[in-house]
Amino acid sequence: MRRKLVAGNWKMHGSLVTNKQLLDDVIKGLNGVRDGDFAVCVPYPYLSSVKNLLQNTNIALGAQNVSQYEKGAYTGEISASMLNDFECRYVIVGHSERRALFGETSHIVAEKYVTVQKAGLIPILCVGETLEQREAGVTERIIEEQLTAVIDSAGIESLCKAVIAYEPVWAIGTGRTAEPEQAQDVHMFIRSFISRQNSNTAKELIVLYGGSVKANNAAQLFAMPDIDGGLIGGASLIASDFVAICQAVGN
Ligand code: 13P
Repeated sequence: MRRKLVAGNWKMHGSLVTNKQLLDDVIKGLNGVRDGDFAVCVPYPYLSSVKNLLQNTNIALGAQNVSQYEKGAYTGEISASMLNDFECRYVIVGHSERRALFGETSHIVAEKYVTVQKAGLIPILCVGETLEQREAGVTERIIEEQLTAVIDSAGIESLCKAVIAYEPVWAIGTGRTAEPEQAQDVHMFIRSFISRQNSNTAKELIVLYGGSVKANNAAQLFAMPDIDGGLIGGASLIASDFVAICQAVGN
């Protein structure tokens, strides 16, 4: 049985003071909740303080990005082994904001994925199409290309130690969520694409949905057979919303 996962992606938000307020409430809200795994992916400077706040809770720590290089003269970059020092469990790779705004190609994303796994961490690999691509009818081709880059570098079985997040770019931060059936169609496509290469991997693979998941639509999305939880942006910054979304995986 695949376990459901809800991960918050704080993006470039937060401060020492507001992080503590947010997490105090989230930790309280999720105390004793056993259905599902939970995580928050926080900006680098807060890894240390958030790690301390999450001690002895059921919430894991994650980062939002990583260098594709292991070490060296790469000013401003952060390596996977550094993230390991802070007991990160997850690292988001290939978020559409990084692909679109910071020039990350599928090749670079694949390198990051490999580096993260090598360090013993779990990559949350984001894939998804733009509105233009959806309207042109090439959603599946785009996702296939994004997945293939990783599979070619790391092998199909590596996906058992990874999480995929399907995040349609047109649904991110727009308030325009994919309809549950619409998201399910793509999740099913992802699982069957993987299944053609390795059916066991496909069965074990955790595929999250991301893009304007809110407290009032999470349960319908998570009820879909191939949706194993969510990657949550804006709503992960509001404690009561994030807690409600996390609780929705148990429904
Ligand atoms: P929103 O939930 O704000 O749409 O963001 C989704 C996202 O990009 C998570 O990685």
